[in-house]
Amino acid sequence: MASPPGPFNSFLAPTSAGAAQRAVLLLDDEAATERLAAEIAAVCRAGDVIHLIGDLGAGKTALARGLIRSLAGDPRLEVPSPTFTLVQTYPAPAFDIWHFDLYRTRDPEEVRELGLDDSMDGLALIEWPERLGPHTPRLRLDIALSFGDSGGSDPITGPSARIAHLEDHHDWSRRLRADWS
Ligand SMILES: Nc1ncnc2c1ncn2[C@@H]1O[C@H](COP(=O)(O)OP(=O)(O)OP(=O)(O)O)[C@@H](O)[C@H]1O
Ligand SMILES: [Mg+2]
Repeated sequence: MASPPGPFNSFLAPTSAGAAQRAVLLLDDEAATERLAAEIAAVCRAGDVIHLIGDLGAGKTALARGLIRSLAGDPRLEVPSPTFTLVQTYPAPAFDIWHFDLYRTRDPEEVRELGLDDSMDGLALIEWPERLGPHTPRLRLDIALSFGDSGGSDPITGPSARIAHLEDHHDWSRRLRADWS
């Protein structure tokens, strides 16, 4: 049964695939992405992994930045894209945060050398998780961001509109107040 609607009333359409619970959220603008980040940050725990999936410019870093700022309790914290450093770490009161951008990695072993194992003690935010290959963690939240049209009956447009597809590979559907199916 779906949980009560959360703050994201712009829910578009439930979908289901296998055992994974899914939710689809319409993010009208970057502020909506930041609100989603704050919602997720409020229920993050040490050991969590969040995969951030989507094309260049989809908003993966923007979402990660919102999560890190929320968890660090500092809305102005500098959170650069780890495009070139590949990983940035941040201390937060409860646990450390590891923000990976694996776009430039070519070999899953390279990813381990960046500290993937250590990150599992804290929160791992992973852009371009497709590069993890055999190191893909089983327990995680997948968030796929896309532009514009949802393909449903309620298309959205505009440069700031995004659609977030959440796929729960852990217990996020119990933690997050989104409509899951
Ligand atoms: N609703 C939105 N959510 C997130 N970002 C948005 C939104 N609307 C506009 N933007 C803009 O889109 C851009 C997203 O860039 P960002 O660096 O977060 O993308 P990315 O997915 O991390 O790309 P890359 O694969 O290059 O790392 C930013 O310039 C941001 O201001
Ligand atoms: Mg990025």
